[in-house]
Order: sequence, then C-alpha cells, then structure tokens
Amino acid sequence: MEELATVGEFGGNLKRELKKLFLLALGIKPDDALAEEFSLVASKGPNRKVGDYQCNHIMHKLAPKPSQSDFTRLIGQLIVSNFPASEMVKSCSVTGCGFINVVISSDYTAKSIENMLINGIDTWAPTLPVKRAVVDFYSPNIAKQLHVGHLRSPIIGDTIARLLEYSKVQVLRRNHVGDWGTHLGMIIEYLFEDFPGLPNDAVITIEYIEALYLKSKAKFEEDPVFKEKAKRALVCLQSGSPVYVKAWAKICEISRTESNKVTQRLQVELGEKGQSFYKPYISNMIEELTIKGLVQEIDGSRVISIQDLKTPLMLVKRDGGFTYSTTDMAALWYRLNEEKAEWIIYVTDVGQHEHFDKIFKAARKAGWLPANDTTYPRASHVGFGVVLEGNGKRFRSHRYCPTVCLVQLLEVAKTCSKTALIERGEGKEWTPKELDLTAEAIGYSMVKFADLKNNRLSSYTFSYDQMLCDKGKTAVYLHYAHARICSIIRKSGKDIDELKKAGKLALDHADERALGLHLLRFSETVEEACTKLLPHVVCEYLYGLSEQCSKFYHNCQVIGSAEETSRLLLCEATGIVMRKCFHLLGITPVYKL
Ligand code: ARG
Repeated sequence: MEELATVGEFGGNLKRELKKLFLLALGIKPDDALAEEFSLVASKGPNRKVGDYQCNHIMHKLAPKPSQSDFTRLIGQLIVSNFPASEMVKSCSVTGCGFINVVISSDYTAKSIENMLINGIDTWAPTLPVKRAVVDFYSPNIAKQLHVGHLRSPIIGDTIARLLEYSKVQVLRRNHVGDWGTHLGMIIEYLFEDFPGLPNDAVITIEYIEALYLKSKAKFEEDPVFKEKAKRALVCLQSGSPVYVKAWAKICEISRTESNKVTQRLQVELGEKGQSFYKPYISNMIEELTIKGLVQEIDGSRVISIQDLKTPLMLVKRDGGFTYSTTDMAALWYRLNEEKAEWIIYVTDVGQHEHFDKIFKAARKAGWLPANDTTYPRASHVGFGVVLEGNGKRFRSHRYCPTVCLVQLLEVAKTCSKTALIERGEGKEWTPKELDLTAEAIGYSMVKFADLKNNRLSSYTFSYDQMLCDKGKTAVYLHYAHARICSIIRKSGKDIDELKKAGKLALDHADERALGLHLLRFSETVEEACTKLLPHVVCEYLYGLSEQCSKFYHNCQVIGSAEETSRLLLCEATGIVMRKCFHLLGITPVYKL
C-alpha cells in the first residue's frame, strides 16, 4: 500500500491524500477499478459547517431510493468508525442519509503552509504522467485579418502551456501558421495578375495583402477559370516552383510581422513551425498509411475512410494538392516521432472540433495513438467559443478598425485602466513610468482574465466597463486583494525571511483557518485545471482566494496584534499562492495600489 504523505513531505494534493484514507477505510486497493470511481468533493455552502470535504459517493452507489437511507447511514457510520487515524484529519462525521464529512486539521494545514514557505511553492506542483507536450496555439492564417478569436487562442494556449510547465512538463509551444493552404494559391494568383513580376516592397504592405485576400477570395468563388488557376498556383507552390516560393515568402514575412505584434503585446512566447514546415514529411507519412492499408483511391483522390464519419479524411486531392488535414497528419506524425511529445494539445475555436476528431480517429486507426483517448500518447482539442458584443452579436473588431485592431484593443484596455487609476486617486506618489507599467499590467490582465474566467467552451461578452470593475470576478479585484496583502507586509516593517525561519503559524480564527485551507487546495486545483485543460478552474480558485483574503484582513487585525507574526506569515503565503496563480494566467502582479 502507498504511504500517506506526512506533513514534512506534503506534495500538495489534499484530495488525493484523503481519498487514500477513504480507500483504506473501505478496504479497497488503490489499483482496484472501484478506487478509480471513488470521488470526494470540497464542501460548498451550508455543507462547510459540517466539514471541509464530503464523500457522497457511497449513497449514490448504494441507495438509489430514499427509503434505504437508514441502511446507507449505517454504512456511513461503519466507514467512519473504520477511518484510519491521520494527522491530516481532525474529525469525521455522518450527516443525512450517510454523507461522510471530513474536517481537516488546522495544525496540519498550518504545518503544510510553513513547509511551503520554506521549501517554495514548486513543492506544491502537480505531477503529470508526461515529460513532453506540444501546445499548438494562436496559428493564424497568413494574409487573413486578425479578429478577436485570435486573442482567445494565445491567451488560453499560453495558460495551458504555463500550467504544464509548472507541472514540470517540457512544453513545445507551436505556432502552426496557416502558410500553405488554398488561400495562398488564390492570393499569389491574384498578385501575379496585378503584377506579373513581383511588385516592389513599397507596394506590398499588410493592408495590400489583406485586401488581396478578400478580392481573391471573391474571385475564387465567382470565377471558375480563376479558381482553376488558383488551384494550379497552389500546386506550383507546393511543388517548390521558385517564382511562387519567392512571392509566398514575401507575403508570409509581412503577415508574420503583423501577427507577431499581438503576441508581443500579450507577452506570449511561441515558436513558429507553420504548415509548410511539415511538407518534407508528407510523402513518407502517406506511404506509411498506404502500407498499413488505410488509404483508398476515390475518383482520383486519396482518402482515409473513418467509421461513423460521413466524409473521409482527404489526404491527396485529385489535382495532387494537399489539404489542411494532410498537413495535420504529417504534423502529428512529426510531433509523436521526431519531437517525442506524449501529449499534443490544439487550441482553436470549437468550429474545428470535427476536423480534429477526424485527425485523431485516423491516427488511432494507424496505431499512432492508443484506442483509449485518455491514455498517453494523447491528443486533445481545446476548443473555445466566440466573443460577443454587448448586443449579443459576434464581436468582429476588424469591421470598425482594420488590421491593427487587436493591438488597438489592448492599447484601449491600457488607456482605460490608466484613466480609472487616476480617477480613483491611485498612485499620486508614483512616477509616470510606474503609472504606465501599472496601467499596462492591469489593462492586459483585465482582458486576459475576462477571457480565461469563463469555461472556454462558452461564448462571452466583451465589455471594457465590466472588465474594469473592482468588484466581482475581474482582474482589478484580484490586483487590489494582492496589493493589500503586500501593503500589510510592507507596513509591518518586518523581515519576512527572518519570520519564516523562526515563526509559527496558527490558524485559530475561523477566517484564518478558511484562508489556510484555501491555500492548501491550490495543488488539487492546478492538477484539475491541467488534466481537464480548463483555465477557468484556476480563475475560480484565485477569485475565491481573493474573497477569502479580504474576509481575513477585514476581520483579523494583523499589525500590532498578538498574532502578528503568524498572520504576517499567512499574508506572505497568500501572496505567494496568488502570484503563482497570476503567473499561470500570464498576469503581471501589481504590488502597490
Ligand atoms: N490556421 C488555423 C486557423 O486559423 C488554425 C491551426 C490550428 N492548428 C492545427 N494544427 N490545425 O483556423
């Protein structure tokens, strides 16, 4: 049987440690299928009066009818009487028809926090069963105008990469730029009609390229002769014809400069390996699939049929051209075999769900991925919903301000936060530089947090006014809570490192205890966010922590109280956990407000 964590080595996941105790009480072995099914929940609302965690699983399993509640209560009591002694648990009780409630020991909580203060927050990082992952995000299409959707992917993708990096996974952050599809054939063909040779640099601007995209797209749809020519241009490009490659490289370079402005503003790092990168791997990949007997010829094209899917996966078109799916199959092959990634994560809007479903199914058919989609190596599509305007319509910033819109959007956020700071009378003693940096940190973080706090699959409304509010679930509220904690520590004039060495943490007041317990839940929260790929789980946690923290400093005097040392240590631990959450969300913390 696995050892239970002792305080000294608390590696974080409280829920998991508690589960081990329950399994012991139930006599279930950790590798038993029943253990897999067993679940615990952190208590919410009125349930918090009776315990910090609840197990209601037993009742759901045993008593589908209320008439059996006497029986399940008895079972509950038996489990409690069998519960192993542990320094982690203060008490266990049964309520209702057999719900088992566990109260966590305050001493254990305090010691675990003291331990983190000494050994660092990295000791609370979750452990994942993978060493290397690819996170494929942002990935705009060359020449297409950037829109708000192009903000969601880098924001969500960056957080997912950070969550994995914190969990000691090596992450390859990939910008799978759309530099190789049909639209490039269209654009190049149109460009050559405008300018038979290449125009000079002065003519090719990003505005010109974006206009070219729109005009060539319209012509592609209306004019069958042009359509054929554009398709041929794509084949010429894909087979490496120098004139086409030269025009293509120019267009890509200008587009890249534009799209990089967005990630620079967001301070998101990622490396470009565009669709064209995988070209040299296509033919071997197709050969491998052909040898495995998966490729069929239909009307001159080569496809992979997939059970239950209406349309097959198109590998080679009739004219010899490759598709978006061909590149994704080659990229998946490369990521698994060359980059040795064990988890490949794609962050795009939900509209691409079917595309990825097809790719993953084809990869399973080829034996590249295991049949079970939760076993590694694994591929996951992280879909997100659309951004709406106040009127409930889809937010399309480029209608009002072309090209630079996304960067402008962030600039507006910064300006709004600067105005709000000045109006609130903040930073009177700050230098203009300090004001600027604070406005930037708050401005960008309010955009990021407004996005990340929603379950990514749902759509959300974009509103500067809502984001700037210092109450409710906004980044501004979080920044105030953090700055307040920092100011208490600063004003105390104490050297925290000295306090850490000698000081003792006691969690006697109800609000100290609640805050301490919330801190201890950090690890299980991050693990949940990582494994389910849901950034909003961290946002919920951070918001709850800020609320808990406000209750604490309103109800518990810190400076000058008898408990000053202990409370300062609690403030420090809260600050550390908050900053780690900010880090995971790509938010720059603010220390003074
Ligand atoms: N370029 C695509 C688009 O703008 C997104 C690419 C996502 N990644 C991938 N491997 N298909 O829709």
